[in-house]
Amino acid sequence: SFPIVVLISGSGSNLQALIDQSLQGELDINICAVISNKADAYGLERAKLAGIATHALNHKSFGSREEFDSELQKTIDQYQPKLVVLAGFMRILTETFTKHFEGRMLNIHPSLLPKYKGLNTHQRAIDANDTKHGVSVHFVSSELDAGAIILQASTSIEKEETAETLAVKVHALEYIIYPLAVKWFREDRLTLHNGHVILDGETLPESGI
Ligand code: GAR
Repeated sequence: SFPIVVLISGSGSNLQALIDQSLQGELDINICAVISNKADAYGLERAKLAGIATHALNHKSFGSREEFDSELQKTIDQYQPKLVVLAGFMRILTETFTKHFEGRMLNIHPSLLPKYKGLNTHQRAIDANDTKHGVSVHFVSSELDAGAIILQASTSIEKEETAETLAVKVHALEYIIYPLAVKWFREDRLTLHNGHVILDGETLPESGI
Protein backbone atom coordinates (compact mmCIF):
# COMPACT_ATOMS: atom_id res chain seq x y z
CA SER A 1 0.00 0.00 0.00
CA PHE A 2 1.00 3.60 -0.55
CA PRO A 3 0.66 5.65 2.66
CA ILE A 4 -0.07 9.34 2.27
CA VAL A 5 -0.83 12.09 4.78
CA VAL A 6 -3.09 15.01 3.84
CA LEU A 7 -2.86 18.44 5.46
CA ILE A 8 -5.89 20.72 5.47
CA SER A 9 -7.22 23.90 7.06
CA GLY A 10 -10.80 24.02 5.85
CA SER A 11 -13.55 22.34 3.89
CA GLY A 12 -11.43 19.53 2.54
CA SER A 13 -13.22 19.11 -0.76
CA ASN A 14 -9.89 18.25 -2.44
CA LEU A 15 -9.32 15.68 0.29
CA GLN A 16 -12.77 14.30 -0.57
CA ALA A 17 -11.81 13.97 -4.23
CA LEU A 18 -8.81 11.85 -3.17
CA ILE A 19 -10.92 9.76 -0.79
CA ASP A 20 -13.55 9.18 -3.49
CA GLN A 21 -11.04 8.15 -6.14
CA SER A 22 -9.33 5.76 -3.78
CA LEU A 23 -12.67 4.23 -2.73
CA GLN A 24 -13.62 3.86 -6.39
CA GLY A 25 -10.36 2.01 -7.00
CA GLU A 26 -9.06 4.69 -9.36
CA LEU A 27 -6.25 5.73 -7.06
CA ASP A 28 -4.29 3.08 -5.21
CA ILE A 29 -3.38 5.09 -2.11
CA ASN A 30 -3.87 4.68 1.61
CA ILE A 31 -4.70 8.01 3.24
CA CYS A 32 -3.46 7.13 6.71
CA ALA A 33 -3.99 10.48 8.40
CA VAL A 34 -5.49 13.92 7.89
CA ILE A 35 -3.99 16.77 9.89
CA SER A 36 -5.55 20.21 10.28
CA ASN A 37 -4.24 23.34 11.97
CA LYS A 38 -7.88 24.17 12.71
CA ALA A 39 -9.90 21.89 14.99
CA ASP A 40 -13.20 22.93 13.36
CA ALA A 41 -12.14 22.25 9.76
CA TYR A 42 -14.95 20.37 8.01
CA GLY A 43 -12.34 18.23 6.27
CA LEU A 44 -11.69 16.48 9.61
CA GLU A 45 -15.33 15.29 9.56
CA ARG A 46 -14.87 14.02 6.01
CA ALA A 47 -11.81 12.07 7.18
CA LYS A 48 -13.60 10.58 10.17
CA LEU A 49 -16.52 9.51 7.97
CA ALA A 50 -14.00 7.70 5.77
CA GLY A 51 -12.40 6.03 8.81
CA ILE A 52 -9.16 7.99 8.51
CA ALA A 53 -7.13 9.02 11.59
CA THR A 54 -7.27 12.76 12.29
CA HIS A 55 -5.12 15.24 14.16
CA ALA A 56 -5.83 18.87 14.98
CA LEU A 57 -2.67 20.85 15.67
CA ASN A 58 -3.50 24.43 16.54
CA HIS A 59 -0.67 26.62 15.34
CA LYS A 60 -1.72 29.29 17.87
CA SER A 61 -0.74 27.07 20.78
CA PHE A 62 2.91 27.01 19.67
CA GLY A 63 5.44 29.69 20.53
CA SER A 64 6.95 29.89 17.07
CA ARG A 65 6.61 28.68 13.50
CA GLU A 66 9.60 26.38 14.11
CA GLU A 67 7.93 24.69 17.10
CA PHE A 68 4.66 24.20 15.19
CA ASP A 69 6.43 22.78 12.13
CA SER A 70 8.54 20.47 14.29
CA GLU A 71 5.43 18.99 15.93
CA LEU A 72 3.71 18.80 12.55
CA GLN A 73 6.71 16.94 11.12
CA LYS A 74 6.69 14.46 14.02
CA THR A 75 2.96 13.89 13.61
CA ILE A 76 3.38 13.22 9.89
CA ASP A 77 6.53 11.08 10.24
CA GLN A 78 4.90 8.58 12.57
CA TYR A 79 2.88 7.42 9.56
CA GLN A 80 5.97 7.13 7.33
CA PRO A 81 4.07 8.45 4.32
CA LYS A 82 5.47 8.16 0.82
CA LEU A 83 3.74 11.43 -0.04
CA VAL A 84 2.42 14.46 1.86
CA VAL A 85 -0.47 16.28 0.19
CA LEU A 86 -1.31 19.89 1.08
CA ALA A 87 -5.00 20.35 0.30
CA GLY A 88 -6.05 23.83 1.32
CA PHE A 89 -3.45 23.95 4.10
CA MET A 90 -3.14 27.65 4.82
CA ARG A 91 0.12 27.90 6.75
CA ILE A 92 3.52 29.12 5.59
CA LEU A 93 6.09 26.40 6.23
CA THR A 94 9.68 26.71 7.47
CA GLU A 95 12.65 25.75 5.33
CA THR A 96 13.55 22.93 7.74
CA PHE A 97 10.11 21.43 7.21
CA THR A 98 10.00 21.84 3.43
CA LYS A 99 13.54 20.43 3.09
CA HIS A 100 12.58 17.38 5.14
CA PHE A 101 9.75 16.58 2.72
CA GLU A 102 11.49 17.76 -0.45
CA GLY A 103 10.37 15.81 -3.50
CA ARG A 104 7.57 14.12 -1.59
CA MET A 105 5.20 16.95 -0.76
CA LEU A 106 2.64 18.43 -3.17
CA ASN A 107 0.48 21.55 -2.99
CA ILE A 108 -2.45 22.82 -5.02
CA HIS A 109 -2.73 26.56 -5.50
CA PRO A 110 -5.73 28.33 -7.03
CA SER A 111 -3.98 30.40 -9.70
CA LEU A 112 -1.95 29.99 -12.84
CA LEU A 113 1.40 30.24 -11.06
CA PRO A 114 3.67 32.19 -11.07
CA LYS A 115 0.72 34.61 -11.05
CA TYR A 116 -1.02 35.36 -7.78
CA LYS A 117 0.95 33.61 -5.09
CA GLY A 118 -0.63 33.94 -1.67
CA LEU A 119 -4.26 34.74 -0.88
CA ASN A 120 -7.45 36.00 -2.62
CA THR A 121 -6.30 34.71 -5.97
CA HIS A 122 -9.73 34.71 -7.67
CA GLN A 123 -10.48 38.35 -6.83
CA ARG A 124 -6.99 39.41 -7.86
CA ALA A 125 -7.36 37.74 -11.27
CA ILE A 126 -10.72 39.50 -11.79
CA ASP A 127 -9.36 42.87 -10.63
CA ALA A 128 -6.46 42.55 -13.09
CA ASN A 129 -8.98 42.04 -15.93
CA ASP A 130 -7.46 38.68 -16.74
CA THR A 131 -9.42 36.62 -19.23
CA LYS A 132 -7.96 33.36 -17.96
CA HIS A 133 -7.49 31.91 -14.50
CA GLY A 134 -6.85 28.47 -13.13
CA VAL A 135 -5.04 26.20 -10.76
CA SER A 136 -1.57 24.72 -10.34
CA VAL A 137 -0.22 21.59 -8.70
CA HIS A 138 3.42 21.86 -7.66
CA PHE A 139 6.10 20.29 -5.51
CA VAL A 140 6.53 22.29 -2.31
CA SER A 141 9.76 24.23 -1.93
CA SER A 142 10.86 26.62 0.82
CA GLU A 143 9.59 29.62 -1.13
CA LEU A 144 5.82 30.15 -0.84
CA ASP A 145 3.88 28.88 -3.88
CA ALA A 146 7.10 28.82 -5.92
CA GLY A 147 7.95 25.12 -6.12
CA ALA A 148 8.35 23.31 -9.42
CA ILE A 149 5.02 23.15 -11.27
CA ILE A 150 3.66 19.74 -12.27
CA LEU A 151 0.44 20.67 -14.01
CA GLN A 152 -2.02 23.48 -14.50
CA ALA A 153 -5.60 23.73 -15.70
CA SER A 154 -7.31 26.90 -16.81
CA THR A 155 -10.78 28.35 -17.19
CA SER A 156 -12.12 31.58 -18.71
CA ILE A 157 -13.06 34.65 -16.69
CA GLU A 158 -16.41 35.89 -18.02
CA LYS A 159 -17.76 39.44 -17.81
CA GLU A 160 -20.10 38.81 -14.90
CA GLU A 161 -17.62 36.63 -13.04
CA THR A 162 -17.30 37.00 -9.27
CA ALA A 163 -14.72 35.47 -6.95
CA GLU A 164 -17.43 33.01 -5.88
CA THR A 165 -18.41 31.83 -9.37
CA LEU A 166 -14.75 31.60 -10.32
CA ALA A 167 -13.96 29.56 -7.21
CA VAL A 168 -16.61 27.01 -8.25
CA LYS A 169 -15.04 26.65 -11.69
CA VAL A 170 -11.52 26.38 -10.26
CA HIS A 171 -12.62 23.76 -7.72
CA ALA A 172 -14.02 21.60 -10.51
CA LEU A 173 -10.59 21.68 -12.16
CA GLU A 174 -8.84 20.93 -8.86
CA TYR A 175 -10.79 17.71 -8.35
CA ILE A 176 -9.48 16.51 -11.70
CA ILE A 177 -5.85 17.57 -11.66
CA TYR A 178 -4.90 16.94 -8.04
CA PRO A 179 -5.86 13.25 -8.01
CA LEU A 180 -4.14 12.93 -11.39
CA ALA A 181 -0.83 14.31 -10.08
CA VAL A 182 -1.09 12.03 -7.04
CA LYS A 183 -1.72 9.09 -9.36
CA TRP A 184 1.42 9.91 -11.39
CA PHE A 185 3.46 10.10 -8.20
CA ARG A 186 1.91 6.84 -6.99
CA GLU A 187 2.91 5.13 -10.24
CA ASP A 188 6.51 6.37 -9.89
CA ARG A 189 6.14 8.44 -13.04
CA LEU A 190 6.72 11.76 -11.31
CA THR A 191 9.83 12.96 -9.49
CA LEU A 192 11.59 16.15 -8.54
CA HIS A 193 15.20 16.32 -9.69
CA ASN A 194 17.43 19.37 -9.07
CA GLY A 195 14.34 21.56 -8.78
CA HIS A 196 12.84 20.25 -12.02
CA VAL A 197 9.83 18.03 -12.51
CA ILE A 198 10.44 14.79 -14.37
CA LEU A 199 7.39 13.02 -15.77
CA ASP A 200 7.86 9.72 -17.59
CA GLY A 201 11.56 10.48 -17.96
CA GLU A 202 11.04 13.92 -19.52
CA THR A 203 11.84 17.23 -17.84
CA LEU A 204 8.72 19.40 -17.83
CA PRO A 205 8.73 23.08 -18.78
CA GLU A 206 8.55 25.72 -15.99
CA SER A 207 4.76 25.91 -16.30
CA GLY A 208 4.30 22.13 -16.00
CA ILE A 209 1.83 20.32 -18.23
C1 GAR B 1 -8.54 25.12 -2.78
O1 GAR B 1 -9.15 25.95 -3.73
C2 GAR B 1 -7.04 25.22 -2.86
O2 GAR B 1 -6.58 25.44 -4.16
C3 GAR B 1 -6.78 26.42 -1.99
O3 GAR B 1 -7.67 26.30 -0.93
C4 GAR B 1 -8.84 25.63 -1.37
C5 GAR B 1 -9.14 24.51 -0.40
O4 GAR B 1 -10.39 23.95 -0.65
N1 GAR B 1 -5.42 26.43 -1.53
C6 GAR B 1 -4.74 27.53 -1.25
O5 GAR B 1 -5.21 28.66 -1.36
C7 GAR B 1 -3.33 27.31 -0.79
N2 GAR B 1 -2.64 28.53 -0.57
P1 GAR B 1 -10.79 22.57 0.04
O6 GAR B 1 -10.48 22.71 1.54
O7 GAR B 1 -12.26 22.44 -0.19
O8 GAR B 1 -9.99 21.47 -0.59
